[in-house]
Order: sequence, then structure tokens, then C-alpha cells
Amino acid sequence: MYTPAALLLTTLLPLLGLLTPAIATPVNAVCTQCDVNPLGNADKTCDITTSCVRTNYQGQYHCACRAGYKSSAPNNDSESHYRVNFPNEGFRVFTKPGVVCDTLCDKYWLGPDSCQEVLVRQACL
Ligand SMILES: *[C@@H]1O[C@H](CO)[C@@H](O)[C@H](O)[C@H]1NC(C)=O
Repeated sequence: MYTPAALLLTTLLPLLGLLTPAIATPVNAVCTQCDVNPLGNADKTCDITTSCVRTNYQGQYHCACRAGYKSSAPNNDSESHYRVNFPNEGFRVFTKPGVVCDTLCDKYWLGPDSCQEVLVRQACL
């Protein structure tokens, strides 16, 4: 599925990756992936505020937030939302399936380079 969020991931993130400093505490845990089929398992369906995208690295599927947004969960709730550092492409916030991603990040104006308050889960790459 080719969504605006997927478009952002493939076009905007590489542009901003050069500006991204890698500063965050990695958190390792198994990641709950999403199902791109909206008629699939409801437990794996992304909220409409996110898009289920496949990463180009290990091919995991995650619910991608719009640039500059996170969920309303505490910043350290890395089960609900987390960032991933894509090599040379910067960061983005992703959520567990079903989590609403409608809260503006700190420094949201930095787009994909914002949201540094959300923890990194590099295992979700
Ligand atoms: C998140 O931070 C709060 C406040 O510091 C703490 O009470 C809570 O245990 C933390 N939660 C996790 C999942 O680390």
C-alpha cells in the first residue's frame, strides 16, 4: 500500500537523515508488528492516525506516525510508541498496532527529526 506516510518515509527521511544526531537510550524488546491488510487481524491493525509501513532494513512492519507526532502515552512507554534509527535516514515515531498517534512532539517543527523525547528501540529496525 502506498500511503502519504510511506511517501514521507521514502522521500523526506533520507533528506533529513544528515541532520540527525544519534542521542537516545536504546531499549531492546520484541516489537509488535502491524498487518498492512486493513481487513486482517484487528489486533494488528494500525490506528487511522498512522500507516503500516515495511522498513527496508529487516523488513519489519510498524505503524508510522506522521512526522512530528507521537502517542499520548508517557515518553518512556516504549511498548506503545518508540523511535527507530534508520541508518542514514534519521528517526521516526512508530506505535504498537491500535495506538492513536495524535500528540505533537516537543520540537515538532523539526518533522522526522523531532520527538527525541520518545525512546529508541533499535530492535524494531
Ligand atoms: C516512566 O517514568 C515514570 C516516571 O519517571 C516511572 O514512574 C515509570 O516507571 C516509567 N515507566 C517505564 C516503562 O519505564
